[in-house]
Amino acid sequence: MNEQPKTAEAEQVDPTRLPRHIAIIMDGNGRWAARRGLPRSMGHKAGAETFRRIATYCKDLGIRYLTVYAFSTENWKRSADEVSAIMGLLRKYLLEAVDTMERDHIRLHFFGDMTPIAPELRALARETDEITAHLDRSCFQANVCLNYGGRDEILRAVRRFAQDCAQGARIPGELDEALFSSYLDSAGIPDPDLIIRPSGEERISNFLLWQCAYSEFFRTDTLWPDFDERELDRAILAYQKRDRRYGGVKA
Ligand code: IPE
Ligand code: IPE
Ligand code: MG
Repeated sequence: MNEQPKTAEAEQVDPTRLPRHIAIIMDGNGRWAARRGLPRSMGHKAGAETFRRIATYCKDLGIRYLTVYAFSTENWKRSADEVSAIMGLLRKYLLEAVDTMERDHIRLHFFGDMTPIAPELRALARETDEITAHLDRSCFQANVCLNYGGRDEILRAVRRFAQDCAQGARIPGELDEALFSSYLDSAGIPDPDLIIRPSGEERISNFLLWQCAYSEFFRTDTLWPDFDERELDRAILAYQKRDRRYGGVKA
């Protein structure tokens, strides 16, 4: 539970108009560490704790889906040490999740191409998938993007659809937005209402390219390890002030 006293921001949040799905580009771990003279891996460690804290807060608030960008298809460009530190943290948190998600009613799902991920991590992800399958669909769901790229996700979907056509299970003419969405990693999950990018960057970095069509954006200079409940309240408040027109005009 969030033990902090309710902030002024939290008081203003309208609980009846919460975003159903929040997505976060968890960025700024390296800079957070560098500012403290620490190795980048310590920034990832602190960032992982922030994820735990923010996921708990989202669940307590009544947010249905939280999608976080943990490792992109481009992040393999980093040093072997940094990549293995990130994978080690994922392993630690997945082991913990296997023990707690049933008790805490947390569904866990992965977006991304798991093929190049170490077998032990993949097996853990399968285990969390099995636990998720037993949990009620109405429970809070965290989606972790691992070896995820929006372009890669679209390509994998196109390949699978083309295969289904080649095998006679589908015909090209029946492809519409809903059917295409069902081939994506996010199948069955509504598009994010709110996408948050900390650390001052103002780019999408290959995140949820199909799903972000009408998402509201919130950016903050705060580095991800320093992101807290108050900052999330601010993002939700900003979201609640937006006028989502979806290309239409106001009545
Ligand atoms: C985000 O933090 C975590 C990953 C991309 C894995 P960064 O590691 O990108 O942190 P900065 O952007 O270098 O500060
Ligand atoms: C995006 O952050 C990916 C994750 C947070 C996992 P990056 O740090 O990799 O993105 P760029 O390089 O600033 O665009
Ligand atoms: Mg970064």
